[in-house]
Amino acid sequence: MDKISIRGGIALQGDIKISGAKNAALPLMTACLLTDKPLKLINVPELSDVESMAELLSQLGVVINIEKNADHQTIEFCAKNLLSTTAAYDVVRKMRASVLVLGPLVARSGEAHVSLPGGCAIGIRPIDLHLKGLQALGATITLEDGYVHAKAPQGLVGTTFTFPIVSVTGTENLLMAATLAKGETRLINAAREPEITDLAHCLNSMGAKISGIGTDTLIIEGVDCLHEATHQVISDRIETGTYAMAAALTGGNIRLKGTRFDLIPTVAHLLQQAGVHLEQEEKDLIVKAPSSQRLQGVDAMTEPFPGFATDLQAQWMALMSLAEGASMITETIWENRFMHVPELCRMGANITVHGASALVRGVKGLKGAPVMATDLRASVSLVLAGLIAEGETLVNRVYHLDRGYEKVEEKLRACGADIERVR
Ligand code: EPZ
Repeated sequence: MDKISIRGGIALQGDIKISGAKNAALPLMTACLLTDKPLKLINVPELSDVESMAELLSQLGVVINIEKNADHQTIEFCAKNLLSTTAAYDVVRKMRASVLVLGPLVARSGEAHVSLPGGCAIGIRPIDLHLKGLQALGATITLEDGYVHAKAPQGLVGTTFTFPIVSVTGTENLLMAATLAKGETRLINAAREPEITDLAHCLNSMGAKISGIGTDTLIIEGVDCLHEATHQVISDRIETGTYAMAAALTGGNIRLKGTRFDLIPTVAHLLQQAGVHLEQEEKDLIVKAPSSQRLQGVDAMTEPFPGFATDLQAQWMALMSLAEGASMITETIWENRFMHVPELCRMGANITVHGASALVRGVKGLKGAPVMATDLRASVSLVLAGLIAEGETLVNRVYHLDRGYEKVEEKLRACGADIERVR
């Protein structure tokens, strides 16, 4: 199994091109199921989660054409002839985002059968809100043999659905389903993540009628059918925040190409409070760490967008491990997302967990060690820690990183990091 070896202590200097967002690409890919016409997506990241989603879509009968150039990948999806309406356990187990085929399939084909995803490393992750929302749209839902069976043979009907808590993929599933429902649907307390805005814009260019985009109330006027479209996937805000923190942690100065401040509003503010200089220069974000003094400890609490993203919490903890003073990091989205804590502690960090909060007392240095994590963002936080630790850090289970970070070692190496993939 591949590992990543890092020798820390080098201040990152240079340019990093930010890839298309994984969590935007996955729902956008499933939007192809809503129409028999082609959907072309530009700037799709080359990630194992994208491959898994493509595999699932092709099992459903979607014809996929991939074009790669030096800069990015463009994929055309055509769901002209659907061969199946079942997402089997084998693929859903590997990637929970597979549940995103549920809404589009039931809206277009009148039925969908999707394996229940079960638990995962970061928490229980139920899909009850996806199911309640589809029921409100008129689908009949039954649970049998570990599968969700959703049926709406006469089509879905517009409704008002209020999310009791904000759900990203829940909003995406219902948003897609409602595009083909009869009449108007209102999704209240909808998630406002930039990936949802991106999906809504793509659906509108396919002929959907969605308003309220970017707010917590999405209004969808159902249409009979959607058509062909080409759409560019937005830049990955989690990758942006991760590399901004890598620059900050190593005392570096990097240009994040093709990304924006407003994708990471709260994180940008926290970084500034810690002492990092950030500047938008046309399409690039410049991140500069102070050259001599240490960063300051700053408290952070995860929240739905525009709050501090849970997908950047582990990386923030790596950064705070070396800051001056103490900081409190509170996780409010996932109940088990502190798996990086014992690994960071093995590298010399001083962190104690009290329920949903972690108290990080900044230390002066970390020491390299063999480490391992069981989720994507926890793994990358260990890469960040390795970039500044003394000696070698060996990050095991690199397949987690490959799910969500495109060419991570190539990008960091281009900024001077001593990092390589070993077998
Ligand atoms: C999305 O997951 C992201 N995944 C996650 O990214 C991210 O951590 C999460 O949103 C929060 O921002 C994709 O976009 C593919 P939720 P999602 O539904 O949609 C509870 C990464 O590292 N909930 O917003 O599955 C749930 O348990 C990842 O890239 C219900 O109770 O998250 C959680 O506590 C991992 N019932 C909270 O809501 C439901 O039906 C938010 O979950 C749905 C969710």
